[in-house]
Amino acid sequence: MRHLVVVFLILLLGTPSALAQTAGAAPTDPALIEKIRKSNAECLGCHTEAALKAPPREGMDLLKLKTLLVDPAAFERSNHAGMECKTCHGQTANEYPHREGLTAQVSPCGECHAQKSMRIEAQYDASIHAKHLKGKFTCQSCHDPHLYKVAAKLGAPSEIVRQDNAMCFDCHESDLKFATFGDALTPPKRRPDLDDIHEWLPNAKLHWGAVRCVECHTPVSPTKTLALSHEIVGKDKAEKNCVACHTRDTALKTRLYRHMVTEEREKLGFANSIILGDSYVIGATRNAYFDQFAVWSVLLTVAGVMGHGALRVFTAGIRRLLRKS
Ligand code: HEC
Ligand code: HEC
Ligand code: HEC
Ligand code: HEC
Ligand code: HEC
Ligand code: HEC
Ligand code: HEC
Repeated sequence: MRHLVVVFLILLLGTPSALAQTAGAAPTDPALIEKIRKSNAECLGCHTEAALKAPPREGMDLLKLKTLLVDPAAFERSNHAGMECKTCHGQTANEYPHREGLTAQVSPCGECHAQKSMRIEAQYDASIHAKHLKGKFTCQSCHDPHLYKVAAKLGAPSEIVRQDNAMCFDCHESDLKFATFGDALTPPKRRPDLDDIHEWLPNAKLHWGAVRCVECHTPVSPTKTLALSHEIVGKDKAEKNCVACHTRDTALKTRLYRHMVTEEREKLGFANSIILGDSYVIGATRNAYFDQFAVWSVLLTVAGVMGHGALRVFTAGIRRLLRKS
């Protein structure tokens, strides 16, 4: 009986899908790297711009292939650089003609990122997209696994803003893409213009380049381990308060700049120096000494005016005497 349990455990742990359960680090062994490169070169032999211009074989549906291209350089910068395409797409994905339903059979994020996904899924389920577009909207609707790189590893806030807003723009700036989801609603929804919706926000276009949509459309992350909550909230719950960001204690410190706000920076005097270095957020980017200087100059001015007044009252009698004589 005990042997049976052991055999069962080995079988369980030995299956490829179980091995893929945890996302390990990128490989460092040169032989393994070379093996992966070769394997991926098979797919990239067809699924790239270059291959489209010089097809490696005849009779391929080039019009369809044109919509299925992967940018190898972008993939090498992504979270999943160093992974085999086949790890997600299945061991027989290189065989052409492909089997039916190759895209539908791709591994879901949760298969390898079980822990994070469990928390994220709960937040995502409460999001406006999941609630209104159940079944149609998925993690991949936002995350292109061949492109996306986690914010903590991107570094520069401008890069984070560009990448994360591009996810939203993909649909919210394209009537065509929005319709492929909006048409599934009853009644079907047309794409509302982003600038019209955010008319109350001065210079909305500037904001799109400096802050992320998720800054205002998600609650603060309830966990330290996750950079943001995945609960995208609708217009009734979105942030409309300018002071949330335009203040010394800006909400952006726990959001966009959470990967960069370090204690040393705080000690330099420029409380939000990192924000100052990146962009000028009115109210948030002020030097503590400037602030103190401002307070003192106001106090000194008031004291000066009052002192001057007191002096005039005190000297009034003398002046009157002098005038009389
Ligand atoms: C010989 C060229 C060729 C090779 C090699 C190739 N593909 Fe394809 N692939 C195509 C073409 C052409 C299509 C367009 C649809 C079709 O003809 O099946 C396609 C379609 C796909 C699709 C979309 C399927 C669908 O119906 O939506 C995926 C996903 C895909 N390939 C992944 C891969 C991966 C991963 C590899 C490597 C493991 C790979 N392909 C290797 C030519 C190739
Ligand atoms: C981490 C998992 C993962 C890896 C690694 C991966 N893919 Fe994909 N791929 C996906 C997912 C998920 C989709 C489906 C996206 C969707 O539903 O639109 C996809 C879709 C595709 C498609 C269909 C076109 C599209 O963008 O929808 C092609 C072609 C493709 N992958 C090729 C590749 C190639 C080539 C590689 C290796 C260089 C690769 N993939 C590596 C997860 C992966
Ligand atoms: C077949 C397994 C597999 C699948 C499926 C997969 N990933 Fe990954 N993922 C990995 C591996 C391996 C890494 C590299 C881990 C590392 O470098 O630390 C990774 C890295 C990441 C990272 C960076 C991790 C970090 O903390 O820096 C994120 C974020 C991520 N993946 C998101 C996704 C999303 C979103 C999906 C679904 C669209 C997905 N992954 C699907 C295997 C997978
Ligand atoms: C509405 C768009 C959207 C959808 C849908 C979405 N995400 Fe995200 N996801 C984001 C954005 C934006 C970020 C922030 C970028 C960052 O911090 O790396 C992110 C970050 C992540 C991260 C990195 C978080 C961290 O702190 O390490 C993971 C992992 C992830 N998403 C997984 C998922 C999974 C799993 C699903 C599906 C259940 C999903 N996402 C659905 C937009 C989305
Ligand atoms: C400064 C905070 C802020 C930012 C940044 C922001 N939004 Fe909004 N958004 C709001 C508020 C507040 C509303 C509700 C407006 C109202 O009801 O008048 C809203 C409304 C919306 C709506 C509702 C449309 C409808 O159906 O009426 C959508 C969609 C939307 N935003 C998408 C986005 C996208 C995409 C981005 C990123 C490009 C973004 N938002 C950036 C605060 C913001
Ligand atoms: C794949 C397409 C797609 C992507 C990507 C996408 N959205 Fe949406 N979004 C939609 C559609 C379709 C609706 C309409 C749902 C509804 O109103 O019922 C919607 C609705 C919304 C709403 C709700 C408006 C309201 O009625 O209150 C907000 C807010 C929103 N999206 C923000 C975002 C943000 C922020 C991102 C990026 C992190 C994003 N979306 C990414 C397609 C998308
Ligand atoms: C989610 C955070 C956030 C919210 C909420 C927000 N802002 Fe901003 N705002 C920024 C950031 C970041 C910049 C910096 C842009 C830059 O110069 O790089 C900015 C820039 C500006 C500018 C332009 C400054 C310049 O250099 O021209 C004005 C004006 C402004 N905001 C006013 C407002 C008003 C009014 C509101 C409320 C209706 C508001 N903001 C809400 C983050 C925010």
